[in-house]
Amino acid sequence: MKKLETIGSRFVRRSEMVPCKSAFIDAHTPGSHLKDNFSIIGPGVTENKEQFINIREPHGFNIGAAGQPPRIKNSLHSHFTAEVFLIHEGTFEIYWGLQSENHTTLTEGDVVSIPTNCFRGFENIGDKYGFLFAILGGDDTGGVEWAPQVFKDAEDHGLVLLEDYGVWDTNKNPIPKGATQVRPMSHEKAATYNNYSTEEMELRICRSDSLKPLKNHPLKFGEYGSIQLHRLIGTKEAVITGGDGFELSLFIAKTGGGFKMLSRSEKEVLICYEGIWKVDWTGEGQKGSFLLNAGDLFSVPENFGRSIECVGENGGSLYSVINDNSPKDPSWVN
Ligand SMILES: [Fe+2]
Repeated sequence: MKKLETIGSRFVRRSEMVPCKSAFIDAHTPGSHLKDNFSIIGPGVTENKEQFINIREPHGFNIGAAGQPPRIKNSLHSHFTAEVFLIHEGTFEIYWGLQSENHTTLTEGDVVSIPTNCFRGFENIGDKYGFLFAILGGDDTGGVEWAPQVFKDAEDHGLVLLEDYGVWDTNKNPIPKGATQVRPMSHEKAATYNNYSTEEMELRICRSDSLKPLKNHPLKFGEYGSIQLHRLIGTKEAVITGGDGFELSLFIAKTGGGFKMLSRSEKEVLICYEGIWKVDWTGEGQKGSFLLNAGDLFSVPENFGRSIECVGENGGSLYSVINDNSPKDPSWVN
């Protein structure tokens, strides 16, 4: 299918992201039961086969989100690829280690990249609904590995995980004949997972109040107005050293700031954090425009032109996720 036929479906408003209340095995466990899980881009990592996904096309990474009322937790788990959290709304305590023994607080605009092979979870410790985006490296992420106690707590509340079926509510239906139950990881194996001190994890965090823009970068040529580029995750001059198959940047602009039309050979997903951004696109002989408000995203196809401009009254910031560790320099479109 040509990219143009699907361009409208590559623009996803925050209001079009569909929560799943039973995406994972901890969906009935008190303290985790009010969690919303969103799969927005990529095949996803959900354990519920009925979960809605906005853009299924593989991007080289997956983007999802978690929405949690105050005091609600996302249970302790690990991934086979790096997991990056962008705190969009609210205040979260991120904890890690097999006993959740280490923790730090992240507020709106903060970003953390949690390494593989490390148990992590997070709790909304604020007084309003919290929302964070999660980027997982790779198309096939290998799914979720839960800490052993998460399975036990789930089973105590009727939920088990079945191969071929996903999350299964034994209070509603008995386990089907022939189904294989996924067993928890042994405590011995869980004990081999990595742990990090708070100082070590701090090196994998970008705090929104300590960002420094790059002086020179590949978009400099097309810059106009007041706009800064911060490379948060990447292989060159980034706050956090990447290598997980994507580069994450943040553009911060005053009203009227932006970058002229450019094209790149990689896919790029733009996520609006603050303000209003106008994105003009061109490709396959057509052109159009989208307005991104906070929480909206747009996946720009490879080899399409895009220009961005901050058009809200109070400035804004916009994330860029590009599906390459070290993207090529863009070409400028007249
Ligand atoms: Fe996760």
